[in-house]
Amino acid sequence: MRKMLMLAAAMAVVTIGTAQAQSGPNLIEYRQVGFSLLGGDFAGIRAVATAKGDVKTLEGPAKAMQRYAALIPALFPAGTQAGNNTKALPEIWSDQAGFQKAAAALGEAAGAISVAAKAGDEAGVAAGIKAAGEACGACHRTYRAR
Ligand code: HEC
Repeated sequence: MRKMLMLAAAMAVVTIGTAQAQSGPNLIEYRQVGFSLLGGDFAGIRAVATAKGDVKTLEGPAKAMQRYAALIPALFPAGTQAGNNTKALPEIWSDQAGFQKAAAALGEAAGAISVAAKAGDEAGVAAGIKAAGEACGACHRTYRAR
């Protein structure tokens, strides 16, 4: 009995040690920082457009938004529902198709900004910004806690 308890304790130590060794960077923190940068990027894009600045400079930042949007679904694997004060709602995992669609909507809008920016098309940039803003809000309403 005593031997078995000691064995169980030893196995628990091994298990915890393994979990720590595999954890690596905290994915929840990682995606939160990404969203924070996404927000800063988008604010910068909006500021240039509002100030009637050179929209051609917005191609790169819009592409960065598009690339991050494509990564969003992969940043929410099973096992990251809790921890690090995550605001992710359970709907992300119960409605993965809807969540992927919401991320794709942002990707499309950001892609439209980047194409219009490259062409120097101010109206196109403005339309893309509007669509991107709606995509942020739509996803947050359903999949992010306030
Ligand atoms: C497909 C869904 C989705 C889209 C699209 C989306 N977000 Fe989010 N966003 C989330 C989720 C979920 C969180 C919470 C992440 C967490 O806490 O783990 C979040 C968190 C954030 C945060 C807080 C980050 C932090 O510091 O913790 C900011 C800022 C943010 N989003 C900005 C934006 C902006 C700006 C856009 C549009 C350009 C956008 N998001 C588009 C789902 C989305």
